Amino acid sequence: MTQDELKLAVAQAAIAYVVEGEIVGVGTGSTANFFIDELAKIKHKIKAAVASSEVTAARLRSHGITVLDLNEVTSMPVYIDGADEITPQGAMIKGGGAALTREKIVASVAEKFICIADGSKLVDVLGKFPLPVEVIPMSHAVVARKLNALGGEARLRIKDGQPLLTDNGNMILDVHGMQIHDPLAMEAEINNIVGVVTVGLFARQGANVCLLGTAEGVKTLQF
Ligand code: 5RP
Repeated sequence: MTQDELKLAVAQAAIAYVVEGEIVGVGTGSTANFFIDELAKIKHKIKAAVASSEVTAARLRSHGITVLDLNEVTSMPVYIDGADEITPQGAMIKGGGAALTREKIVASVAEKFICIADGSKLVDVLGKFPLPVEVIPMSHAVVARKLNALGGEARLRIKDGQPLLTDNGNMILDVHGMQIHDPLAMEAEINNIVGVVTVGLFARQGANVCLLGTAEGVKTLQF
């Protein structure tokens, strides 16, 4: 099976977690895009969606799905999104698509985080995938020095020859070479660095369920 077939399989499996008549939180990335296309097929059964990025909002709207501002929403049963890495305990690295801050905010309103990922994302130790950290632009150099002191090598994410700007107008540092044995402690430590908006470690509020795409079918991990 190709990686795209695995992503499609988990996106289809995630539809079972969508609660009829309710609002769905929707993530960002290639796996989330497969989910959005599946959600479009049952759009008459949901009330609306909340998007974790401008790209996701545009894709939802292109399918005729109503997108609500999070400030209008007080509860949602599920948030469904991909991950760059996930451990057998449900801690994740996210932010490969630079949407980590909005992803964490929308997920914080949801009762359950349903992670959809192909099997290559399951790791014992987080950190092989460079850890994204969203920073206030004026702080990127000082934050990079502090991240380097934690044992990583922080690199400013560049797009088209310029620092990439997130939907929030901030920059991303990708921290290479980390081995994150205690994701909970590392999430708190990086969040405490002045200038950091969000770290792409989702451990304090990790996944509740992971639908993992494998050659043997979709496996359900519960945390
Ligand atoms: C975007 C994310 C994505 O969920 C993560 O990068 C996985 O993306 P993909 O489904 O394309 O592998 O965190 O900020």
